[in-house]
Amino acid sequence: LKLYFNASELITNKGVASKDGVSVDETDLGIIHEGALVTDDTGKILWLGRTMDLPRRYSKITRRMDLSGKIICPALVDCHTHLVFAGARHSEFAMRIAGKSYSDIAAAGGGIKSSVEQTVAITEEKLFKISKARIEAMMAYGVRIVEIKSGYGLSWPEERKLLRVAQRLKASFADKLIIRVTFLGAHAFPKWCKTKQDRDQFVDEICEVMLPAVKREKLADACDVFFDKGYFDRRQSEKILRKARLLGLDIKLHADELADTNGAALAAEMRCLSADHLLKAKLINLKKMAKAGVTAVILPGTAFYLGLPYVDMKKIRKSGVTPALATDYNPGSSPCLNLPFMMTLACTQMGMTTAEAFGAATYGGARALGVHKQQGHLSVGMRPLLSILRVTSYQALIAEYAHPGFSV
Ligand code: NIG
Ligand code: FE
Repeated sequence: LKLYFNASELITNKGVASKDGVSVDETDLGIIHEGALVTDDTGKILWLGRTMDLPRRYSKITRRMDLSGKIICPALVDCHTHLVFAGARHSEFAMRIAGKSYSDIAAAGGGIKSSVEQTVAITEEKLFKISKARIEAMMAYGVRIVEIKSGYGLSWPEERKLLRVAQRLKASFADKLIIRVTFLGAHAFPKWCKTKQDRDQFVDEICEVMLPAVKREKLADACDVFFDKGYFDRRQSEKILRKARLLGLDIKLHADELADTNGAALAAEMRCLSADHLLKAKLINLKKMAKAGVTAVILPGTAFYLGLPYVDMKKIRKSGVTPALATDYNPGSSPCLNLPFMMTLACTQMGMTTAEAFGAATYGGARALGVHKQQGHLSVGMRPLLSILRVTSYQALIAEYAHPGFSV
């Protein structure tokens, strides 16, 4: 058995889970001050409550951890990252500051294409090493559940390389983290796609060659598509998602980030696990998502970095959709691994309350990955991953902004 005791806050997310992450307030976090938790050797929670109420039968446990001055909570979840890539695009940042837009830069041959060139140029081994360092940095923020997308290969051998790196990360962190891998072959069109016919051919290749191989080689848990203006259109996105679902993969969608293309509505219609970004999504489409049970993954780091208007939390509340928060970690639109900072941005820029932000970065993230039955909240009998953080309250995690890391 293992005993954790004297935690400044033990956060259970009891009400967050029972409300399915919608309209969360601070009482829903189920905070127990001076909290204690007992698990068996498999991590199953046997008891939780106030340290002073610890039952006698647990008082002799020798594996014990004093959490004075710390909080213990359900794993923080970064449910949307493009973590496996090489190189950087710092000059694009400078270009944007000088007045160019993300789309201008992409159209001029920068953007995702630039990262593809830098990524195909290095070996799987090197890619694994740099990606591993990123996961370690992420863990310092208390993140214990991570989603990793491919998408900087854009040909089967190169996409396969990225997915294999993600799978190796999954295996090497298996005792500490849950890693979910998402195939995003439809992240951009490769260089050889000049005409509409070429682009359709690439979509066919994704459906007929890549997706079946992803499934056969067990390289991913889910499939995602960048459905947006200048990227994959509705027909192409739908085709890829249908095929992925047919093969038994979970489906997700990059939706309404650069333009409102009714991506949120497509995600609802297809019953995706999540629709992500949503900067331009309309209320009526968010309502459709809520009805279909699709999680809204909100990525304030991207709005922050690209200088775009944030998602309005009033709209999210009105729609009834479950929000999740993630970093969108990638070299172009959000090179930041700091999930607590995303909570800070959500509060100061989008109008989330601190409780909403915390719920979205834990339960919401778990729901966006389809693991919210076992993760994202704590109760007796569950076997959830835990985060332990060197702060005295969950509010400190959000208020001490852009902090270099708290994890124990
Ligand atoms: O989530 N939207 C698509 N992909 C990334 C950007 C990737 C890049 O610029 O490299 C995003 O913002
Ligand atoms: Fe993204």
